[in-house]
Amino acid sequence: MRLAVFVSGNGSNLQCIIDNIQSQFLNGITIGVVVADRDCYANQRAQNNNLKTLLINKKADWHTQIEATLKEEDITHIVLAGFLSILNKTFCESWKNKLINLHPSLLPKYGGKGMYGLKVHQAVIDHKEKESGATVHFVTEKIDEGSILLQRKCNVDLNETADSLQNKIHEIEKDILIESIKILYAKTQSTY
Ligand code: GRF
Repeated sequence: MRLAVFVSGNGSNLQCIIDNIQSQFLNGITIGVVVADRDCYANQRAQNNNLKTLLINKKADWHTQIEATLKEEDITHIVLAGFLSILNKTFCESWKNKLINLHPSLLPKYGGKGMYGLKVHQAVIDHKEKESGATVHFVTEKIDEGSILLQRKCNVDLNETADSLQNKIHEIEKDILIESIKILYAKTQSTY
């Protein structure tokens, strides 16, 4: 299985995938390219690990730029790890069931356009939720609505802030992201 990881920010989830490949916990899996929609630290992490990077030009037809690189690199699956651009319908359909996203809430709650980063956690706190968590789901053209692959919960404590909740959920995210990649890999093995 050859992954493309799409990023926009810090890239801690990208780093977690890299670490798990290096430790061979993710066996049989390689990263063919890291795709970024902006200059970000995730790009630096990719370069530090000698991974190919593609910085897309949002002023041009960026879906076509991406598709060409995915083909060139024989990519089989895509992981959106903090990628903030919206992929179009054609792209989502051509990668159906091979394209996953990581979201920091218990979807279908607190998902959709504009729900990212601290905004998600602040909304959870404002609504006095007792629990939150993280979700890995397949990507469709409808933002955060594709079928759920894995989800894990955590408590929202009495004095929780958006920052503390974000830190807590970051840990959960990494676990379910790695487990999800393993599930996708297992699926590729069972079709042979
Ligand atoms: C994560 O919280 C993820 O849920 C969301 O964006 C964040 C990315 O963090 N989709 P990082 O760039 O991997 O550190």
